[in-house]
Amino acid sequence: MEQVPGESPDYDPRVTRHFLTGEEITSAELRALLERATELKADRQASKALAGRSVALVFDQPSTRTRVSFEVGVSELGGHAVVLREGELQLSRGESPRDTAAVLSRLVHAIGVRTGAHALVEELAAHSDVPVVNLLTRDHHPCQALADLLTLRERFGELAGLRLAYVGDGNNVAHSLMVLGAKAGLEVVVATPAELAPHPLVGQVAGAGAGEGGSITLTNTAAEAARGARALYTDVWVSMGDAPSRGAGEDDGRRELLEPFRLDEALMDAAAPDAVALHCLPAHPGDEITEGVLYGQRSAVWDQAENRLHAQKALMELLVSR
Ligand code: CP
Repeated sequence: MEQVPGESPDYDPRVTRHFLTGEEITSAELRALLERATELKADRQASKALAGRSVALVFDQPSTRTRVSFEVGVSELGGHAVVLREGELQLSRGESPRDTAAVLSRLVHAIGVRTGAHALVEELAAHSDVPVVNLLTRDHHPCQALADLLTLRERFGELAGLRLAYVGDGNNVAHSLMVLGAKAGLEVVVATPAELAPHPLVGQVAGAGAGEGGSITLTNTAAEAARGARALYTDVWVSMGDAPSRGAGEDDGRRELLEPFRLDEALMDAAAPDAVALHCLPAHPGDEITEGVLYGQRSAVWDQAENRLHAQKALMELLVSR
């Protein structure tokens, strides 16, 4: 992990209007955001909060859900999205993040960035006068977690006290579920091999920001995490940009480590009777999740994917109104 929240000397999540890890919003703001997302889902044309405004969306890495949901979301809010793919900015030829942020701030009203190094989004945010939104870094994926919480709210109503078990690699998705899940009052249980555990500082940050009785528990046993859970969540075993040091690449040891953490029918049966299966996608059926669970009755995966749109529209409304 190259950067963890609070390490950058230039970036303080308590005094910004950016959205890089989820730390930047309060439990009350999160609750209101999810309520607003539900309203926006019921009427997709209800808000024109971005009328006359432009949003730069920078993608250093591939994306289906994030790219489409943000571009459609900006359009539905009455704004204009400027999508910039890898290699299209002078940033790729050595222009500094500081100068890039300063210039984009003069031209657009918000900046979304998908890249590998979390330090880059922090540096852009430190020098940007407009909100910067993390569209995924190696360390955090907070927009995904907003959609996940919206999906759970739709299924179960109240989030406080609900047990969510994440099983698999302790990656960026796990980190964001910890930060935002605890803030929403969830009992977040993360089951990973010891070698692929979440970053300890993320656990500290998530615990400190927990609201409404939220908590974080780490374990190395998937069945223990699943017991009583209302949602079982997993993600790919090799994330974009995973470094060989985390077991990716040609070293097949990673797969062996993760085999006991597959989200399969037996694990679903160990959870609460009304439990749903979650996955941020893209999925690799047969690896981290079975085909039966992904496409089965208990899957809420496709709602999750749609909810990216509604949750992010509510987020953009909040950020440009601050
Ligand atoms: N879940 C997610 O971020 O999907 P994409 O990589 O397709 O954007």
